[in-house]
Order: sequence, then structure tokens, then C-alpha cells
Amino acid sequence: MTGASPSGSPSSGVPELLRGQAGVERAAAILRSGGIVGIPTETVYGLACDAMNAEAIARVFEAKQRPSFDPLIVHVADLAAAEKVARFTPLAHKLAERFWPGPLTLVLPKDSSVPDLVTAGRSSVGVRVPNHELALALLREFGGPLAAPSANPFGYISPTSAAHVVAQLGDDVDAVLDGGVASVGIESTVVRLREDGTAEILRPGGLSFEEIAEVAGAELVTHGTPVHVEHAVKGELSPGRLRNHYAPGCPLILVPPLESLPDSGDEGEDAGLLAFKTPPHSWEQEFRAVEVLSPTGDLREAAANLFAAMRRLDAAGLRQIIAERAPDVGLGRAINDRLERASSRS
Ligand code: TXA
Ligand code: MG
Repeated sequence: MTGASPSGSPSSGVPELLRGQAGVERAAAILRSGGIVGIPTETVYGLACDAMNAEAIARVFEAKQRPSFDPLIVHVADLAAAEKVARFTPLAHKLAERFWPGPLTLVLPKDSSVPDLVTAGRSSVGVRVPNHELALALLREFGGPLAAPSANPFGYISPTSAAHVVAQLGDDVDAVLDGGVASVGIESTVVRLREDGTAEILRPGGLSFEEIAEVAGAELVTHGTPVHVEHAVKGELSPGRLRNHYAPGCPLILVPPLESLPDSGDEGEDAGLLAFKTPPHSWEQEFRAVEVLSPTGDLREAAANLFAAMRRLDAAGLRQIIAERAPDVGLGRAINDRLERASSRS
């Protein structure tokens, strides 16, 4: 542990695991003194620091080994707090009122008070109100914005539990606030609001395109033109969306829905199966390890289980993972986006 410890206690080398209201107060104290804390949100765990403290922000980039060109999301307690860090358009207001707190990040022109380090030198800032009781309690207790990327080392799967954060970042974080397993399980949808009043999806995520389109209508665009659903996530992408971002340690091969395939073939003894729903029996038999994201094929359940299932398969020492595509609707788009990126090892 290299961070500030408000109690002045000697570094133990293991992050403090914090719980409940006392944990919230302790986390706020660590953050106020420039420390970095793993925090729960409904999407994935974040690695939080005081968004106005350049030194603490630098520590977050360092702990994650994150390239400095990739901006962080600023988390706030409510819309009023968001308006202090970003300039809202009318559509941004509508989206925030409808979907916050929730898995939606709005990219808006930033207020001059936001350090350039947070936004990687950009004139825009990504801001969101997380829908998690402890995260909101912490934001209120801390009393200011918290910058937080997902709490994984750069290029690895985002954590959906406190244990994942401890396992991956260990003594690089000062503490982890344990808020249970993330209910959404996949990162927020990132939407950029453009000066002409339109909006563009930069990263598919926990809020579906369809829900956003219901509010934004024809103002949801790609390259300035209203888009059809199937093209909605092919626009300009977030700077951090490197293709191999979620890659497990062995090759992951993405395949169409299993029921549409003739046979499981012979995947060999050391293959794993990441199935979207309960697979046909002939498939299940072929694999050393099988993870089913949702037995009934429920997209929300599948998204919530995705990263933990990928971790378990990754830990099983497999030679390859066969992953079944989800249907390309709703949260299925975000699931397929993460699987596609996990499958491309460049
Ligand atoms: O659900 C989430 O969004 C989680 C939780 C912790 O809030 N956070 C998260 O942060 O996934 P991170 O840093 O792993 O991903 C943030 C994404 C990156 O792709 C980044 O490039 C994009 O948001 N982003 C942030 N600020 C941006 C900006 N000003 N312009 C364009 N993209 C931005
Ligand atoms: Mg991330």
C-alpha cells in the first residue's frame, strides 16, 4: 500500500475491506486524504479517487496500468452535482432525468474545474450517477465527484465483486468497499451528446440502445445521421475500446447460437464452453468446463453473470473457450460486444 492512510496506521500490504455505513465513512476519509478505493456500482466495481486531486488520479492510472489517453468517468450523487462538472444539453437532461441513477454515462463539454488528467486532455467529460445504495451514500458522504474507471488492471475483465478487485489489484488499492455482487454486471452505456443536439453511442452497455432510443428518438445518430437499431453501436467509439480488452488467457472463439449449428464437433479435452443458455446435450458433453449465462436465455441474467463466468473459465487452465453469441437485441448487444473483443487477440 502506497496511499495515504488517514489513521496513520502502518501499511499492511492488504487493502482494507469495508462494509456498511462505517465502511462508507472510512472510505470517504481515505478518499479525502488522497487514497484510492474500490467501490461497488450496479454495473461493475470502480477504482475511485477524488476527481479534483491530480495526484490521486495519477495513482489510479498507475494502479490500473491504464494508458493516459483513456479518460475516466466522473461519478456524482445526482443531476445537480453533474451540472457542476459538465455542460448539459436539453437531450442530456432528458436522458439523465429518465435513466439516472443508472448504467448510463453521458459525455458532455466539461467544466473548467475538472482536471485535464481525468479527461485525458479532452474538452469533454464522462459523467454518471450510479444506481447503488453504498456508492450513492459514499458520494454524499464524500461530498464531491469521484473519478473511477472499472477496477481491473488494463486489458482485463471488469470486476463484479469485491473479491475480484482484491484478487486483481491487491495492495495497489488502499481499501475496497464491499457492496455485494454487481446487479447489472456489464459496464455503463457511454453516450456522447453532440453540439448539434444529437446523441451518439460510444460504448454499448448496461442500458440498452432500445431504451435510449425511446427517449432520444431521431436524435440518436451515427456520424450525424439518424440510425437504425442494427447500426447504432457502430459509430465513433470510446477511446478506451481497444479490441482485445476482455481477453482471457486462452483463445476465445465466438460462435452463432448453438442450436443453429449442426454438431459440437470435437473441441478436444481441454476446451471450455461459455453458453448463452442451456446448451443442447451433445454440446455440453464435449467440454471440460461449461458456464451457462442464463439457463432460460434471459439477457439481464446473462449480462449479470458474464464476467464472473469468464473469470471461472479463465482460471480453469483451458486450451480454448467456445463462446455462444447472445441474440443481437437489448443487453445482448453489450454482451456480444464484450465477447467480440475477448475473441480478438491481436
Ligand atoms: O459502468 C461503468 O461505466 C464503470 C463504473 C465503475 O462506473 N466504469 C467504467 O469505466 O467502465 P472505464 O474507465 O473502464 O470505461 C469508461 C469508458 C472508456 O471507454 C472511456 O474511453 C469512455 O468511457 N470515456 C470516458 N470519458 C470519455 C470522454 N470524455 N470522451 C469519450 N469517451 C469517454
Ligand atoms: Mg474498463
